[in-house]
Formats: sequence, C-alpha cells, structure tokens
Amino acid sequence: MKISVCGKGGSGKSTVVALLANEALKRGYQVLVVDSDESNSGLFRMFGFDRPPVPLMELVGGKKGLKRKMSQPNILSEANIQTAQIPGEYLLQKDGLKLAAIGKIMQSLEGCACPMGVLSREFLKKLDLAEDELAIVDMEAGVEHFGRGVDTSIDSVLIVVEPPLESINVGQKIYDLASGIGIKNVWAVLNKVPTAEIAARLKTELQGRHIKVVGCIYSNADIFNSSMEGKMPVNGVASREIKEVMSSILSRAGLPTPT
Ligand SMILES: Nc1ncnc2c1ncn2[C@@H]1O[C@H](COP(=O)(O)OP(=O)(O)OP(=O)(O)O)[C@@H](O)[C@H]1O
Ligand SMILES: [Mg+2]
Repeated sequence: MKISVCGKGGSGKSTVVALLANEALKRGYQVLVVDSDESNSGLFRMFGFDRPPVPLMELVGGKKGLKRKMSQPNILSEANIQTAQIPGEYLLQKDGLKLAAIGKIMQSLEGCACPMGVLSREFLKKLDLAEDELAIVDMEAGVEHFGRGVDTSIDSVLIVVEPPLESINVGQKIYDLASGIGIKNVWAVLNKVPTAEIAARLKTELQGRHIKVVGCIYSNADIFNSSMEGKMPVNGVASREIKEVMSSILSRAGLPTPT
C-alpha cells in the first residue's frame, strides 16, 4: 500500500507519518517513508537519523538537470523500482525503517518546486512494493501536489485534521481532489485535539462532509516538547492512539498484518 499523509501546513503530517511508520514496523511491515515535502527538512530527526538522505533529485542531477538526466540510465529510468534497488546514500535505514527524500528547495530564486513534483509523481508511480511493504509519503502542505499529479499512483490518502475550521476546509478540499482522481481510500485522522468533546464535534463535522474518521491523536505535551529538538517521543500516549488508526486503515484497505 502507498499511503500519502496530507493536510494543512502544521496540522501534524510529519508527526503522523512518524507514528504510523513506527506502528507499521511493530506490526511486521517493511516500511519505506518517502519525504515529499520540498520545504521542511527535519523528518530524518524524527526517526533518529543524524543526517538526511541524499535527495533522489541528486540522482537525476538536481533540478536543473532533471529533463536531461531523466533520459540517462539510472534507477529512475527503470519501469519499476524496488526499494532494494535504491542506492545506499539515497536510502537511510534504521531498525527496519527506510527513509528516502525527493528534494528540497535550498536557495532563494532557485525556481519553483515543480520538478520535484514531477520526480515525486514518477518515483511513486514506479515504486514496486513487496506484499509486506508499506510506503508512507509525507506530503507537502496543502493541495498543490494534486495539481502536479503526485497522488495519481497513491492508493490511500490520510488527511490530518486539526480543530480549526481552516484545517477542516483544507481537509475537505483534499478529500474532494483525492476522490476526484479515483482514490477510494480517503480518510481523516484528528490531531492536536484538546478534549473528547472537541473530538466528538470534529468527528461529527467531518462525517457530515462524508469524510470517514479513522482515529484521534489528542494534543500531547510530550510531542510538542520533543519537537523543540526536532524529535518524536518513542513510546508516548500517541503511540497507543495510533494503533487504532493503523488497525482501522488496514482493515478498511483489506490488508492483513504480515505473519
Ligand atoms: N498531537 C499533537 N500534540 C501536540 N503537538 C503536536 C501534535 N501533533 C503535532 N504537534 C506539533 O505541531 C507542530 C507541527 O507538527 P508537524 O511538523 O508534524 O506538522 P506538519 O503538518 O508536518 O507541518 P508542515 O506543514 O510544516 O510540514 C510540531 O511542533 C509538532 O510537535
Ligand atoms: Mg511536515
């Protein structure tokens, strides 16, 4: 399964990616996390790496060389890409988790991120997962990735929704765009929810918009405090809350837990 984690800026996408990835590993999946956010560069720290992977963009010679280099032989010119074929420096590995990144905007005036959108789309399309492998994509904030076609080969979309209306509205837009390109598995996870009462209100609001809710991560001081160092608490309350989210996703997608 290729699942993209989407939502408004700051809603908790990277946090949910880290929680989901760790839970999937515990359940025996091989996990490939794909960092497809061209702005934020800290995902590697959340998984305890001391440096980011070399972006896949470099494999094709950086943004400027994209068109030219896409036509030269490298794994990205293969019809299918298996995780094991990705060269070591582009794929960080730790305790069974693998992390790859598409690319980052590093300098001002370097141009728009469209080439990274193209690379994300092509890479995700060609990515050929093993039966017990999950790809979890940390998507850029908002909805532009839909315009770039990044989600065309994604089979499930998880929308992270916080209580504010703006977050709900962006979630609705993502739901409509994802459903509009034929993605059947589109769900929401509530995040940074302060109370059970707010969780119930938010759930009712989303269900009224026909968006299925697969779980809730409450507002959690440990997560917030760890984020000051760019980290994630390993065994906190949220690691327990994400279990329900993962079970719901797997059963709705009809996936068994690997044996
Ligand atoms: N459940 C939570 N409780 C408390 N703080 C949270 C929770 N989820 C996320 N946060 C905090 O909110 C901030 C934004 O989270 P995160 O970076 O995961 O969001 P994002 O959607 O990936 O942001 P961006 O759009 O910038 O990539 C971080 O400081 C994070 O620690
Ligand atoms: Mg993020």
